[in-house]
Amino acid sequence: MTNQLIIFDTTMRDGEQSPGASMSRDEKVRIGRQLERLRVDVIEAGFAAASDGDFEAVRAVAEAVRESTVCSLARAIERDIRRAGEAIKPAARGRIHTFIATSSIHMEKKLRMTPEQVIENAVAAVKLARQYTDDVEFSAEDAIRSDEDFLCRVFDAVIKAGATTLNVPDTVGYSIPALLGQRISNLIARVPNSDKVIWSTHCHNDLGMAVANSLAAVMGGARQVECTINGLGERAGNAALEEIVMAVRTRQDVFQCDTRIDATQIVPASKLVSQITGYPVQPNKAIVGANAFAHESGIHQDGVLKHRETYEIMRAEDVGWNANRLTLGKLSGRNAFKSKLQDLGIEIASDEALNAAFTRFKTLADKKREIFDEDLYALMSGEAPDAVERFKLIYSKVHSETGEVPLATLTLTVDGKEQRGESSGSGPVDATFKAIEQVANSGTELLLYSVNAITTGTDAQGEVTVRLSKNDRVVNGQGSDCDIVVASAQAYLNALNKLHSKPETAHPQL
Ligand code: KIV
Ligand code: ZN
Repeated sequence: MTNQLIIFDTTMRDGEQSPGASMSRDEKVRIGRQLERLRVDVIEAGFAAASDGDFEAVRAVAEAVRESTVCSLARAIERDIRRAGEAIKPAARGRIHTFIATSSIHMEKKLRMTPEQVIENAVAAVKLARQYTDDVEFSAEDAIRSDEDFLCRVFDAVIKAGATTLNVPDTVGYSIPALLGQRISNLIARVPNSDKVIWSTHCHNDLGMAVANSLAAVMGGARQVECTINGLGERAGNAALEEIVMAVRTRQDVFQCDTRIDATQIVPASKLVSQITGYPVQPNKAIVGANAFAHESGIHQDGVLKHRETYEIMRAEDVGWNANRLTLGKLSGRNAFKSKLQDLGIEIASDEALNAAFTRFKTLADKKREIFDEDLYALMSGEAPDAVERFKLIYSKVHSETGEVPLATLTLTVDGKEQRGESSGSGPVDATFKAIEQVANSGTELLLYSVNAITTGTDAQGEVTVRLSKNDRVVNGQGSDCDIVVASAQAYLNALNKLHSKPETAHPQL
């Protein structure tokens, strides 16, 4: 058995199925490039047959990424496989990932197919996919709730048809570690020619065990794990890439394998995905949360100062937290700014984009004495080159006083024309959103509002996420500023602008 654990990232496919996390083609290319820097082995860039937008996005990632394999998902139906095959054509290495459900409940109630029909479709899909690429993955959807004898028959048939990776997903997050590990080792023991393929797992987090289940699968013999940055994904999410990679690396005494991942790229990848999707990272999240390496207790601090390993099992800098996070200040020049962005893996599309970002940096540096890496990530997060800006904040004023009703006054441009809004509200943010709505009259529903301090200190920028929905479409907007009311207004307008732009990708419920 190989000792390389293949890391298959599905942030841009399963992760994108989180409400409001949809990504444009250009955003996918930015994430794809970061995943390549992270040295992810396989990047699932989308579901090419889902929409023309998703097809274009998979194709663009296949063109941009050279080092990682680029993959498209496809149901086990002819049209899906052909679309996936076309989309991955420009890739240096391309994979088709085809799937069909194998549990009784899915076969009877969803597919309305007999088990024999399911095998027939799986085999036909794999054979067709092999006409496009030698790298074909087959997933038995809901494998954990599938009958093991039947799974053995399906896997035997698809190996004969040419599948090279066999995936055993816990689609509904139902398994527990001991059972998943056992399921993988049973399948490897029972399926003929199991040593000719790579066994994989793909775990959802409904019971909070996605990472533990994935690691148990590795102990049972899986050599590919499907995961997402920050654990983004359907419902409670997928297994978190950063946790799996660092668990395997930190516990080399337990795991007989390791990954190719450049762990110093983990934090930049986490920040990029969070900013593009509008999903903040909880502060106590393992590896990538702001507090993951912060020691509060005096006893711990004392221990770490005397001998780091007393309380630290990993080094923050090894996963990309910068030891010296103070980066730039008011006097830093354009070149220092540009080279710092490069160090952080932040790409700038053009000289105009760099100039605009540098102007924003100078404005921020006037308000905030010390600029940290986190500030720069936030500063650059609104820099999607393809963003459509229908609504823009020009000016805002909020009056808030103990015992008085807050009042917000603001000026926006709507399609380039200035308009003024004014409203009271139960707090300054409420008043601001109402004033925006007085102008925009968007008919949207506010699903989520959250504020995070980007760095420590009362001069920290607040990073605001706003989730809006309209006509079944859900989007996340983000804004950051030292003034959290301004950040809130920006986040709201960012979400409105996203709602106004044409959806590029569609999210079929699998
Ligand atoms: O959760 C799941 O079963 C999936 C498959 C398509 C692999 O996402
Ligand atoms: Zn999934």
